[in-house]
Amino acid sequence: MTVINRERLAALVKRERESYALNFPQSRAAFERAGGHLLGGVPMTWMRMWPGGFPVYQAAARGARLSDIDGHELIDFCLGDTGAMAGHSPAPVADAIARRYAELGGATTMLPTEDAAWVAGELARRFGVSHWSFTLTATDANRWAIRVARQLTGRPKILVFNYCYHGSVDESFIVIGPDGRPRSRAGNVGAPVDPAVTTRVVEYNDPVALERELAHGDVAAVLMEPALTNIGIVLPDEGYLTQVRELTHGTGTLLINDETHTFSAGPGGCTMAWGLRPDIVTIGKSIGGGVPSGAYGLNTSLAEQILGDDSADIIDTGGVGGTLAGNALSVAAMRACLDSVLTDAAFAAMTEVATRYTESVRAALSAQSVPWSITQLGARAEYRFAPEPPANGGESAAAADELLDEYMHLYTVNRGILMTPFHNMALMSPATTEADVDAHTAVFTAAVTELLG
Ligand SMILES: Cc1ncc(COP(=O)(O)O)c(C=O)c1O
Repeated sequence: MTVINRERLAALVKRERESYALNFPQSRAAFERAGGHLLGGVPMTWMRMWPGGFPVYQAAARGARLSDIDGHELIDFCLGDTGAMAGHSPAPVADAIARRYAELGGATTMLPTEDAAWVAGELARRFGVSHWSFTLTATDANRWAIRVARQLTGRPKILVFNYCYHGSVDESFIVIGPDGRPRSRAGNVGAPVDPAVTTRVVEYNDPVALERELAHGDVAAVLMEPALTNIGIVLPDEGYLTQVRELTHGTGTLLINDETHTFSAGPGGCTMAWGLRPDIVTIGKSIGGGVPSGAYGLNTSLAEQILGDDSADIIDTGGVGGTLAGNALSVAAMRACLDSVLTDAAFAAMTEVATRYTESVRAALSAQSVPWSITQLGARAEYRFAPEPPANGGESAAAADELLDEYMHLYTVNRGILMTPFHNMALMSPATTEADVDAHTAVFTAAVTELLG
């Protein structure tokens, strides 16, 4: 296997940073002007994570293309880190939004519209759980799902996997420390309590550890992505998800599948693609075609229990809420997106394009004996700086390489390809073409060739 020369890498990163500053002067100027009143110079502080010292400023975006204020057109494989998996501003969603907001009027009224029940029925068809409630983000879907799970089981804790990400959910910012003990994730800001008080954490793909932790009998729910997607993509070992279901059932623990990213696996995410039987499903980001939307679904028995629980305030100040949740605009967008854009047929095509992407990157790596691997999950694929795909979050975290990340992101954006920041993830929308993939392959191959020298 080829060894990467770090001095060469550092010199290339320096060169790419300089080109980035030259290529995107208007973005840089806009970023500098914004510093006066935006915290950190960006609308949300994570936007500082883009490589190169400042983010590209968006001008417009349609389908799988995005243009910036310097006049470049970029092929967008980031797609808003899944928020735009439907492609940017697909026509059916644009029409539904215009109709609801401009023609009919009434984006948010505290009253239901008929779109909501249609969307709930479609989510039930896709994800198997019967009763749905809406939020504006996937984070909130997870927060409310956790609260409902605690209420219904009377248990205090949840269990998550090492290096998971489920949004800004306090309970989930926990990792296994070098001493094997749970500890707060580095940088956790203003945690209300030490997450070790609220949460158990185990490695993904380790049924023995899961059995040991669930045996305490104090876990309300396991909150999991069926495949990890936020520390590279980590796929389940054969039979692992069956073991998870058996262990949760056996200990009276609820199972929450967070399908926010794993929705890429197909029209009903991994839940449908792999025949899973979670008690609760959460989802967000993409289902509204880019309009803020999220949802959580409960199986029939949980739905009956929560509605029949007189001690649960699910109306007002009980901790589950959101004035704009389920608003007429976001349910109209969700309906159009699920009905006409992220359809069963669209997923088949997106997966085919993602397979082309994965195979081309794999071929480029193998042609030059580069010690990286790539993993695909339906419409998404991600390469990782490890010769074999990591088996769990801890292994995958150990393969992180910030400088290599920066090199690949800057090299690609400087040549018209936008990758997802803090991932090496590429996502295919219904608008992404084989030609887009081939353009990436050429740039990726050139990046690797220059790196190896
Ligand atoms: C699996 C998963 N769940 C939930 C979220 C939270 O989504 P949001 O930030 O839109 O609330 C994320 C965000 O990346 C995610 O990856």
